[in-house]
Amino acid sequence: MKLAENKATLSFSNGSPSVELPVYQGNVGPDVVDIRKLYAQTGMFTYDPGFLSTASCQSAITYIDGDKGELLYRGYPIEQLATNCDFLETCHLLLYGELPNTEEKSKFTKLVTNHTMVNEQMQFFLRGFRRDAHPMAIMTGLVGALSAFYHDSTDINNPEHRNISAIRLIAKMPTLVAMAYKYTIGQPYMYPRNDLSYAGNFLHMMFATPCEEYKVSPVLERALDRIFILHADHEQNASTSTVRLCGSSGTNPFAAIAAGVACLWGPAHGGANEAALNMLYDIQKEGGVEKIGEFIKKVKDKNSSVKLMGFGHRVYKNYDPRAKLMQETCNEVLTELGLEKDPLFKLAKELEKIALEDEYFVSRKLYPNVDFYSGIVQRAIGIPVPLFTAIFALARTVGWIAQLNEMIGDPEYKIGRPRQLFTGSTKRDVQPLAKR
Ligand code: SDX
Repeated sequence: MKLAENKATLSFSNGSPSVELPVYQGNVGPDVVDIRKLYAQTGMFTYDPGFLSTASCQSAITYIDGDKGELLYRGYPIEQLATNCDFLETCHLLLYGELPNTEEKSKFTKLVTNHTMVNEQMQFFLRGFRRDAHPMAIMTGLVGALSAFYHDSTDINNPEHRNISAIRLIAKMPTLVAMAYKYTIGQPYMYPRNDLSYAGNFLHMMFATPCEEYKVSPVLERALDRIFILHADHEQNASTSTVRLCGSSGTNPFAAIAAGVACLWGPAHGGANEAALNMLYDIQKEGGVEKIGEFIKKVKDKNSSVKLMGFGHRVYKNYDPRAKLMQETCNEVLTELGLEKDPLFKLAKELEKIALEDEYFVSRKLYPNVDFYSGIVQRAIGIPVPLFTAIFALARTVGWIAQLNEMIGDPEYKIGRPRQLFTGSTKRDVQPLAKR
């Protein structure tokens, strides 16, 4: 980051001395006012509970222009990556800053492929769960449990260790998600296959059984690979910020990623894809397209707390570019599978059309986000609704670990420790029980 000519001066109407704060510029996007010395200079904190105006770090990985609806991974537009690259090329880009050449791609693919198996002991963690446990509860447990297997070989200050942890996490997430799925349907786990692509191997572990040959559909393989690319990273979203804050204590990277999984589960974040599909199911059950008006009315009624799931975004005040690509993928997969008349897809497109013509959504700049269509295409692929967010976690793991490694690799990084505005009881004495 570079020091701007511009400076910020903070003055106080009570005559306290004003302070001058440096302004820094990135390569693109908003400048930042550096308030690191504010407390020392003024005895005051800034106040920004939802981090609406706060840059928590500097990063070179992902850039979002919310007004333009633009998303760049290391400078490359998501539209170009989703059509010209595969997920492992995107992982290489996010981790190391550049797309791989042919030789680098083959080396990286082999490295990831050779780490897809998990320790045989991992299967015993699943047995503690009920068969109907939510896959995200299982994933939070399994990813955290991975730290037990690599704790002694993970010195996070060693770049080599950080890299092998990244490879292990990217490689093992599909295996763990497939195990979580197989456990809930009572089928045996399928071991990873080194002769299949990353997405193909995941489909195989999810849908193959030991009883017969399973043929990976190239259409589903490509669609899933694109879904992974679209979910790979998204600058300082809630779960990535969780991973950074958790990792800033120097904890095991597997434990930090488990914290990211837990945060992503929330319906306001990664859990929205599951919630969006259930919302479409509910409208469908009520009567489908002709019930959209009634549903929108509920969403606009402040007392209903009903939200249009898969709509709105803290940063995008325009169409989420991933939602456009997801809708395209939806079209391709449904057409390929002869499901172009899929009522839920029709309903979703109608719902989007009506919402985007309604002043409530237009005035609040609420557009479809990545979660609005992703459920429909995952359902068409055969992925059960409760597993949608686990797929999101699988794909976002590379973003989490790239951001974590970027932070740990910065010699200036410190443990994150925000302060507060205290509004509780001031000091008082404990009264004996008889007097309370
Ligand atoms: C993801 O941060 C990321 O980058 C996340 C993500 C990633 O890749 O990591 O992109 C993934 O989490 C996408 C978002 C998935 N969540 C949903 O689809 C859930 C539904 N969306 C909302 O909960 C909401 O839009 C958020 C949480 C996504 C954003 O909320 P903000 O930025 O805090 O905005 P807000 O709640 O202050 O909303 C502003 C106004 C409010 O109305 P008013 O108080 O001004 O009258 O818009 C309303 C909100 O009530 N609003 C909605 C709405 N989203 C916002 N009203 C109805 N339906 C919605 N979906």
